[in-house]
Amino acid sequence: MLTTIIYRSHICDSVSASVLGEMVTVANNKNSRADVTGILLFNGTHFFQLLEGPEEEVTEIYRHIREDSRHYNVVELFCDRAPARRFGKLGMELFDLREYDRDEVLQIVLNKGTSRYQLMYDDRALQFFRTFVEAREKENYFEIPPGNAWEFIPDSSAVVLDASYGDNTAECRFAFQPIIDPLAREIISLEALLRTPDGDSPERYFAGLHGQAVYEADLRSKKVAFAMAAQLAPVAQSLSVNLLPMTLVEVPGAVDFLLNEIAANGLVPEQIVVEFTESEVISRLEEFTGAVRQLKAAGIRVAIDHFGAGFAGLLLLAQFQPDIIKINRALIQDVHKSGSRQAIIHAIINCCASLHISVTAVGVEQPEEWMWLESAGIIQFQGHLFARPVMGGVSAIAWPEKKTGW
Ligand SMILES: Cc1cc2nc3c(=O)[nH]c(=O)nc-3n(C[C@H](O)[C@H](O)[C@H](O)COP(=O)(O)O)c2cc1C
Repeated sequence: MLTTIIYRSHICDSVSASVLGEMVTVANNKNSRADVTGILLFNGTHFFQLLEGPEEEVTEIYRHIREDSRHYNVVELFCDRAPARRFGKLGMELFDLREYDRDEVLQIVLNKGTSRYQLMYDDRALQFFRTFVEAREKENYFEIPPGNAWEFIPDSSAVVLDASYGDNTAECRFAFQPIIDPLAREIISLEALLRTPDGDSPERYFAGLHGQAVYEADLRSKKVAFAMAAQLAPVAQSLSVNLLPMTLVEVPGAVDFLLNEIAANGLVPEQIVVEFTESEVISRLEEFTGAVRQLKAAGIRVAIDHFGAGFAGLLLLAQFQPDIIKINRALIQDVHKSGSRQAIIHAIINCCASLHISVTAVGVEQPEEWMWLESAGIIQFQGHLFARPVMGGVSAIAWPEKKTGW
């Protein structure tokens, strides 16, 4: 199937534009042998390339290009199938935008097109040309340094609670993972993650339970979470706990139970964030919103977890605004390489800024993901890059420190 890939990238400072001619000659030969065509635009700082051809060949050439050390911050903008090539005759022509008049350059580029798409501006691929040539999105080209520009140095703050956690009879335990502001070196909150007493998953904790019993077990587990968190109070001012949305609806007096346990452990409601998972919320939104009002009235903050992973995230936001949104790992993964993820996360950040909702990025594993998200304006992070969850305690936190020379 005819496949089109478009990406943009940043030329390395050490590479002189004079070597590009030779690079393109080599590329031309390789592309011709693979039946891959396209065009490469250069504006003095950034490359923008369209590659078209059989799926396997285009993917393989793009894989090589991504690893080429002559450029960095390679961001895929477009990957789609098409009935015909847009730049079919060209091999790989290098087109230096600086040599043309600003008002004409887009048309000159498009005139090199070979297909009936030529002047159809509603073709998505050609829209990307227009955006690049007219430098419309330039403020979103974050020039993040390579991942090894930062070191992540664990501090000595690890805490492990006494093995009994004060309650040997409890049917569950919790692992804790910090949510941090890495540049301010601040712990924002600890998230309590449900485990069985021997450290197994929440699914195991709920296994064998049905109907009302699931919600009751969910609520009861928070008693243990608050008791353990009270012992971790010196580490963080705020605690995040997860709750099934329907627990508030199905268990009579659920909010009072939470408030009693919060008070019994010497905590105050303003310290607590209750996290709900988006896809579970949406099925019974009206009832859920009513129950959440009680939490809010008591001073407890509300977060929507795994935002972006469900099927109606934006509808949810239209009807119900939480205090915090946690962006799902699936959207965060490789964000520095993906134009579509970048566009979606920009939109979430802008929307949340207008609604004064805080944004946390969850599941951050790579330094480049963190750097991109930080450049985009996110300040709260959770992920293995900084700290893994620890049963009955909090791990040391690996704070980023920029290496000298960057
Ligand atoms: C901006 C840019 C565009 C490139 N375009 C192509 C291309 O279209 N086709 C190609 O074969 N190589 C292209 N290359 C070069 C490849 O990255 C790589 O050097 C080449 O495929 C040879 O790879 P190899 O030495 O691993 O075989 C490009 C490199 C850069 C920096």
